[in-house]
Amino acid sequence: MNIAVLASGNGSNLQALIEAQARGDLGGGKIVLAAGDKPGALALKRAIKAGIKVFAEDAAAFGTREEFDQALMGALERAGVELVVLAGYMRLLSPAFVSSYEGRIINIHPSLLPAFKGTHGIKDAYDHGVKVTGVTVHFVDVELDNGPIIMQREVPVSEDDTLETLEEKIHKAEHMIYPEAVRLFAEGRLSVKGRKVKILEL
Ligand code: GRF
Repeated sequence: MNIAVLASGNGSNLQALIEAQARGDLGGGKIVLAAGDKPGALALKRAIKAGIKVFAEDAAAFGTREEFDQALMGALERAGVELVVLAGYMRLLSPAFVSSYEGRIINIHPSLLPAFKGTHGIKDAYDHGVKVTGVTVHFVDVELDNGPIIMQREVPVSEDDTLETLEEKIHKAEHMIYPEAVRLFAEGRLSVKGRKVKILEL
């Protein structure tokens, strides 16, 4: 199954996926394209280093969100992409993009959704004083951090944790569950009914 990873930043989740693929842990999944809206992003450099084709266009050069997404969709189509994996992609997808890949876009979010949606999930949970936070992999719909939940992994917050140590723990959990969720998708083992995602036995 051909996969595109969309990333705007550091790309540590992309890296975890690249390494999982190298170990044969992505089921039949193959990352055929890495795409982003920030051409200088470390994520895209990691992709180039791994020999993955890259779509890197500066979003500011496009008039509208729709125009950028049309260009991106063209690249996905040419690469025969069947699953879109968002990994720190800091742009909202246009409704046209979401509807053309409906049920085939997944995202990872650094909190136990529906708590702490938005761009600062780790800090918001930390500042709130929660004792347990975590990570969520979910399908993407038009609402932010909202679609059906595929997997969650909890991360306890200890009294000694600083925001930085908590961030480290969260990222470690992400790097474990994201490749696993992608593998389940690639193996055709996710069945979605309404908000409920069932993991089918092989
Ligand atoms: C991760 O914390 C992810 O949950 C969030 O953005 C961050 C991306 O990190 N959506 P990286 O670029 O994969 O290192």
